[in-house]
Amino acid sequence: MTDAIDAKFHPRVFSGVQPTGNLHLGNYLGAIKRFVEMQDVCDCVYCVVDLHAITQPVSVWGGPKQLASNIREVTAAFLAAGIDPVRHIVFNQSRVPEHAELAWVFNCIARLGWMERMTQFKEKAGKDRERASLGLFAYPSLMAADILLYKATAVPVGEDQKQHLELTRDIAQKFNNDFAESIRDHGFGDAFFPMTAPLIHGPATRVMSLRDGAKKMSKSDPSDLSRINLTDDRDTIAQKLRKAKTDPEPLPSEPAGLEGRPEAQNLVGIYAALAGRTTADVLAEYGGAQFSGFKSALTDLAVDKLGPMGAEMKRLVADTTHVDGVLAAGAERAAAIARPVMDGVKDVVGFLR
Ligand code: TYM
Repeated sequence: MTDAIDAKFHPRVFSGVQPTGNLHLGNYLGAIKRFVEMQDVCDCVYCVVDLHAITQPVSVWGGPKQLASNIREVTAAFLAAGIDPVRHIVFNQSRVPEHAELAWVFNCIARLGWMERMTQFKEKAGKDRERASLGLFAYPSLMAADILLYKATAVPVGEDQKQHLELTRDIAQKFNNDFAESIRDHGFGDAFFPMTAPLIHGPATRVMSLRDGAKKMSKSDPSDLSRINLTDDRDTIAQKLRKAKTDPEPLPSEPAGLEGRPEAQNLVGIYAALAGRTTADVLAEYGGAQFSGFKSALTDLAVDKLGPMGAEMKRLVADTTHVDGVLAAGAERAAAIARPVMDGVKDVVGFLR
């Protein structure tokens, strides 16, 4: 098989994770585990999106020392989960200035009204919108730039990123329309940017809090009991799952029986995703079981899958030379793709260079 055929059938994948601390099971099952799976079929670019991290108040991302350590921690999680930084590209966003450059152009393409509709902005800004940073408001423009700078067509993410990916398509489409003539004149054909498809699949696209089945598992939840962190040890995982909220009924034998039982649905989804099985398959085995038994099986499975990864993460975090080397080398390779795309954007828009 030639490179050309590979490139034709296996589009480039891009995805990112914010270095904001407390990497958890939702990040793993909804995103990082999927990143690993994509490696055999696609060219992948995986980014530690540090420019996104500073859109929140300094008190949230923790200040300069914390940011540096969180960037290394996310990188360590990528590597420990099995991402191969030689075959694929792993880097931190701020090292490739074209991300910010293209985001500016997209700020001038995207409309205020589009940003106003973003639920993540509303959630993160909270009631006091006036005090939210301009960066938080424009966040989706930067995210579109991340993806389109690599002309990536596939983006594995959790459910919460779907709206941002729809906006990415809107931005690509408007750029292609606004500059249609220039795009043709410069020999780029009918469209400069491709349409991006979100990859949101499997039983754990939205892992919920262990304390409240109506809330997403999140890095920022003040209760550590709400999430399983990727570096939690066996005892901590066991304790968190033991305390996880459930309902009084035994588990149903079929997925339809999970309807209206968010906590049960969440735990079964986590089990299925960790085991690489379907929800139906898990319920065929555990239907009728009490939660106590199921929780201890889930603890064993979680420790089995996460334990070695957490240990490797801790080892890598301590090896800053290695991690920093991976990021520096990855950034050079990322820039080699990003630069000519940005040059094309400049030509199309009419900037002289
Ligand atoms: P972030 O850092 O909040 O989360 C990283 C990834 O983890 C997924 N995720 C979840 N999946 C399932 N259940 C959960 N409870 C859960 N919590 C988080 C997220 O969906 C995400 O895939 N905006 C992005 C980062 C980003 C990005 C990009 C992603 C910046 N540029 C370009 C893709 C492409 C974010 O805040 O992810």
